[in-house]
This record gives sequence, structure tokens and C-alpha cells, in this order.
Amino acid sequence: MSAVDYDTLIPNNVDLSSDERLKRALEKWYPNYINWWKTVGPEGFQDCQVYLRTAVSVEKDGWAKFGFVKMPEYRWGILLAPKEEGRKIAFGKHKGEPVWQEVPGEYRAMLRRLIVIQGDTEPASVEQQRILGATAPSLYDMRNLFQVNVEEGRHLWAMVYLLQKYFGRSGREEAEALLERRSGDPDRPRILGAFNEATPDWLSFFMFTTFTDRDGKMQLESLANSGFDPLARTTRFMLTEEGHHMLVGRTGVARVIQRTSELMSERGISDVNDIETIRKHGVIDLPTIQKKINFHFSVTLDLFGAEISTNAANSFNASIKGRFGEPRINDDHQLHNDTYPVSQLVDGEVKQVDVPAISAINARLLDVYIDECANIVTSWNRIISEQGINFELHLPHRAFHRQVGEFSECFASPSGDVITEDEWTQRSGEWLPSADDGDFVCGLMKPEHRVGHFAPWIAAPKAGIDGKPGDFEYVKIAA
Ligand SMILES: [Fe+2]
Ligand SMILES: [Fe+2]
Repeated sequence: MSAVDYDTLIPNNVDLSSDERLKRALEKWYPNYINWWKTVGPEGFQDCQVYLRTAVSVEKDGWAKFGFVKMPEYRWGILLAPKEEGRKIAFGKHKGEPVWQEVPGEYRAMLRRLIVIQGDTEPASVEQQRILGATAPSLYDMRNLFQVNVEEGRHLWAMVYLLQKYFGRSGREEAEALLERRSGDPDRPRILGAFNEATPDWLSFFMFTTFTDRDGKMQLESLANSGFDPLARTTRFMLTEEGHHMLVGRTGVARVIQRTSELMSERGISDVNDIETIRKHGVIDLPTIQKKINFHFSVTLDLFGAEISTNAANSFNASIKGRFGEPRINDDHQLHNDTYPVSQLVDGEVKQVDVPAISAINARLLDVYIDECANIVTSWNRIISEQGINFELHLPHRAFHRQVGEFSECFASPSGDVITEDEWTQRSGEWLPSADDGDFVCGLMKPEHRVGHFAPWIAAPKAGIDGKPGDFEYVKIAA
């Protein structure tokens, strides 16, 4: 590996060439990463030229360079948002002190754990999505999938950089372990539940990038003001990429909804629940899309952790992990006497209860997340109503289908009514995708590799990537 010029290979703004110890650690890690990418990264297409954007610097004209590249030759970089001279800690008990350039000893374990958990999600999603290339509904979509995949790979690099640079031997061991766990593996699973679920089809992929990547955004936003400056700067730059992942998701689901709605209105099908007829036309019925929303939204809510959380209070208090948009919040940023309303189960009913705000950090982040998701569903509903179809999609209630937090011990309907276990057993098939639904969707997943063509269950996008025209060959499969 000594022949590799890391400054050329790894675009970076962390002065990699002058840090011998870090270079040695990366030299050991890099071949294992490539091996991981080739064995559990995107299946097939590794020799194809893919039109990808690469971040070569954090400046406006440097973070989105487009060009054809083979995925294993992608230049995964280590890029931190620019340093703000004189930045002060914005929250917690160290509020007002200068930000830290090294890890404070007392917070070492806490910081390492946060970085490992974030880092673990990045390769996990690549593993979850690895088989999707084979059934891509267009070259445009295939390119978007691979873009998301290589950037999740880069996010792994970002976390591994922090571990190797600032956490010594234990950091290097954690960096190796990030390549050893596997999504869905019973013996060595990824850390968080939703990252062990399968992503067997493209509707699942679009739902995942809409809902689960958005949890990623929420977590990164909370770390973007960390008192540990290298973490804050790393996550700030990651957020620029996360926007594209969520866009792929939101517009992907929108295109599925559009195709179904258009077909229904063309054929004069007004009964949304006539699933048999709608499916015969090779499109995904809206009730199935609703079930997919119910599933992906609810499993993602669990990723936020318990609404009332001592861990979250401790990391806020330690000035390590703040709130969404922390500097813009109008309070003391220490939460000495504040309260926050949290939805809880009280005597069998869902009620809002005021609790100390410091203990409700996760609940507050969940609220921001749910608001964002509600706006997305509203935009999807517009597509349905534009076709004159009388149907609305809804986010399920936060108590629905939860394994973590305030509602993990109860059963609730999508509208938030607390129900018995018997009723849940009888009715959950109406609310969550069944094996049949999954089989139907998977059955539609026939690849469409012709330039400018799209599979019949999804509409074409409104615009190309990087301003490219509709007949642009985003992936050169024959190459
Ligand atoms: Fe990511
Ligand atoms: Fe992402």
C-alpha cells in the first residue's frame, strides 16, 4: 500500500499528508474497506462507469464534481466544513467556552459511542441496498442508488477519520469493527434495529431514503454544534450530502404515487381499494403505499431512542450533542428550569405531559422530525388530488407499532387509539405490509436498462441529474 499517494487518492482538507500516524492507520484500514465494498457493497455493476458526484473540497465549486467513475475507484474523501475561528460552545454546561480541538478525557467514552453508532449506520444502509442495482427501474435511478451508496461509504470514512485521529487504539479497533458487523446478520448485526431490516425492492429504498435518511439528518444536525469541533465540522459537511439522499427518497415515492394516480385517472378507476384491478395494470396501489409509510415511519421513530432519556440529557449537558438548530433556539441553552411537553400513555390514553426539558431532548427532536415528514406527505397528497382521486395518505400516530420509548408497551392503531393485543393481532395486517404485498411489489421489480426509459410502475423524474437531458446514459452498463 505504500505506493498509494493518499493525498491524491483521498481528497481531504485535514492535511493528511503531514500526519504520519493517521496515514498509517488509514493504510491499514483502506484495503479492508475496499474488500468490504466489493463483498457486501453494491452487487454487480462494479466495473460500470457511473455518473457520480465526488466531493473534492468543501468550497462551493468543489463539493459536487460530476464525472464517470467505476465505484471501487470512487475518491472517498475526508472533508470537514471550514473552521470557524473563535467558535464558542453553544449549549450545555460548557456553554460559552471555546470549542474543543481534542477529546476531553471525561467525555471520551461518550463521544466514541456516539461516533460509533453514527458510523455503524453508514455501511449498514449500503449493505441493505446492495441487491437493488439488478432491478433498477431506470439508469437514472440506478445512478441515484449508487450515489447514495458511495456517499454513505464516505460518511463511514468521515466517522473512521474521527475514530482513528482522536481515539487512539480503541478508535482503530472500533474502525475495524465497523467493517465487521453486517446488516441483518443474527450473530453480528448492525447496532440499530432499522438498519437490520431488509430493503428488498425500490419502493422500500425510496421509503428508507425518505424516512430513515431523514433520521440521519436529525442526528447529524444535533451533532453539528457539538463542543468537539472536529465532530461538528465533519457532520456539517455530511449534511450537504444527506440532502440528496432524502430528495431521492421523496421524489422517488412521489413518482410512484404519480404513476399510480395517472393510471387510475386514465382508466377511470375511482375505487382506491379495488386493489386487484389496480395491480393488474402493473402499478402499486395507494393502500400499499400507505402501509409502507406506516412501516418505515414507525421503525424510524424507534431510532431516536426513548423520548425521555438520561443518555440524551447527559450528552446535552456535556455539550456534546445539542438540539436541532440549537443556536436559533430562544432559551438559555442549558435547560435549567425549562419543561417540554411529551406525549405519554396516561391511564390508557395518549396525553401530553410537561417534563423537565433536559430529559426530553429526544422527544423534541422527534417532534421536529415528525413535522418534516408531515410536510412531505402533504406534498405527496397533492399529486393524488391533482389527478382527481379521492384519497389521502397519512403519517401514522407516533404510538403506532413502536418497540422503543413511551409507547413500546402498548398497542395502538395508526390513528393513535390504544387497542388490545387481540385487536392488534386481528388488524395489524390492514396497517402493515403483508408478505403478499411484498411479493407483489417485488414482482414488479423488472430492470429497465434502456437509456431514457422507466419501468411502468414509476413516472419519469421532472429533471435530470446535473442538468442532464432525459436521454442521458447515467450508467454505462456495457463498458
Ligand atoms: Fe450517511
Ligand atoms: Fe444518507
